[in-house]
Amino acid sequence: MTDTLIIVHASELLTLKGPRMARVRQEMSDLGIVTDGAVVISDGAIMDAGRTESILKEHDATGVEKLDASGKVVMPGFVDPHTHLVFAGSREFELEMKIKGKSYLEIMQEGGGIFRTVRDTRAASPEELYAQSARRLESMIAHGTTTLEAKSGYGLDKSTELRMLETIRKLGEDYPADIVPTYMGAHAVPQEFKDRPDEYVEFIVDEMLYLVVQRKLAEFCDVFCERGAFTVEQSRKVLLAAKVHGMKLKIHADEFHGTGGAELAAEVGAISADHLAKPSDDGIMAMARKDVVGVVLPGTPYTAMHGEYADARRLIDLGVPVALGTDLNPNCWNESMQFTMSLACYHMRMTPAEAITAATVNAAAALGMEKRVGSIERGKRADILFMDVPTYAHIPYRFGTNLCSLVMKDGKTVWERQPFVRG
Ligand code: NIG
Ligand code: FE
Repeated sequence: MTDTLIIVHASELLTLKGPRMARVRQEMSDLGIVTDGAVVISDGAIMDAGRTESILKEHDATGVEKLDASGKVVMPGFVDPHTHLVFAGSREFELEMKIKGKSYLEIMQEGGGIFRTVRDTRAASPEELYAQSARRLESMIAHGTTTLEAKSGYGLDKSTELRMLETIRKLGEDYPADIVPTYMGAHAVPQEFKDRPDEYVEFIVDEMLYLVVQRKLAEFCDVFCERGAFTVEQSRKVLLAAKVHGMKLKIHADEFHGTGGAELAAEVGAISADHLAKPSDDGIMAMARKDVVGVVLPGTPYTAMHGEYADARRLIDLGVPVALGTDLNPNCWNESMQFTMSLACYHMRMTPAEAITAATVNAAAALGMEKRVGSIERGKRADILFMDVPTYAHIPYRFGTNLCSLVMKDGKTVWERQPFVRG
C-alpha cells in the first residue's frame, strides 16, 4: 500500500453514493452523508469511504499517509458542465448598457455581445488565447472545479474554431482538470453570412463537423437554438449531422424564448438541454421521459438582469434530472460553482442538498461521465474537495468568498489555501 492516502475525520463526508446515473426528484436530496468520515485513495482512485473508525480498522492503517479533515466538509470535486472558457478580451462595458436597459439580444443585434468576442478571438494569437483562458481555468480549479466542459463558438470560421478546440485540448493536457470539449460552431450566424444563415448551417454540416471529428477535437456538439441565432429546423440539421458523426449532443434551449428547444433535445437524444428559462411543459415532460439532463445556469439571468430564472422546482417536480453550470463567458464571467449554487438556492429555490447534487453527480451525467466522477465511491476518480465549513448547508448559504481550502484531483492536492501571515 505505498501510494495510498486516507482522508480522516471529515465532519461531514458527502459521498453522494447511489446508482451511477443522474438523480431525479427526491433522490436529489440524498447526499449520502457520513459523519466523522474517511476516504481511502489509491493510485488516484477511491478505494473505500465510510466512518473513520471502521475505515481505519479495515485498512490496517498503520504507516499509511493520513490527511486530517477535522472541521471540514469533504465532498466530490465540482463538475461544471457548461462553460465558454476559451475566448479573448472582455465585455465589461456591456454592464453599463444593461444597467441602462439594453437587453442581451439587442446588444448582440447591434454587433456587440457574441460578435464583439468573435472579433477579439479571431484577432488573438494562439498564445494569447491560451494565456487568457488559462487564468480563468486556474481560478475555476481553485474554486473546486475538477471536471468541466468547454465550448468553441467564438471563431465561427474554420481556423479560429479549430484554434479554440486545440486550445481546449492543450489546457486539458497542461492542467489538473478533465476538460470535455464541445464544438459549437452554431453559436451565432457570423456577420459574413448575415443574410445567408442556411449557407452557414451547410458549412457546419458539410465541412466543419468532418474536420472536428477527424481531428478528434470534440466529444459534443452544441447549438444556440434561439430567435436571432438558429431556428429549430437549423438546429435539428446540425445536431442530426453531428449525431451521424458519432458526437454526443447538447442544446442551448429556450433561454430567452420558448422556441421548442427542450422538445428538440428529447427528439434528437441530446445528453443535456441547457438554460431552460422558458421551456414548455410538453418539452419538460419529453426531457424527463428521455432522461435528458436539464442544465440550469443561474449566472446568466443574474447578469442579464431580467430576473427570469429557470423554474428549477418545476423541472425537478416533473422528473428532469437537474444539473448546474456556470455558463462562464464574457457576458457572465462566473468562474465559481459555489456562487452558482448560491444563486440556485436564493433565486431558484433549489435546496442546498439539491444544489450539491446538481453541481456534482448530475453535472457529471450532463457530460456522460457519471461512471467516472461526481461521487465519492469505490472505483471513481479521487477528485475531492475540503470545504472550510461545518455542514453542507453553509456552502450555498455563504457567497462571495471561496470556501474551498483544498482541491484534490486524481488523489493529488492541486490547490490549497495559503495560511495567513500574522503580526
Ligand atoms: O450560454 N446564449 C448563448 N451563448 C452564451 C453567451 C455567450 C456570450 O454572450 O458571449 C450563453 O449564455
Ligand atoms: Fe452558454
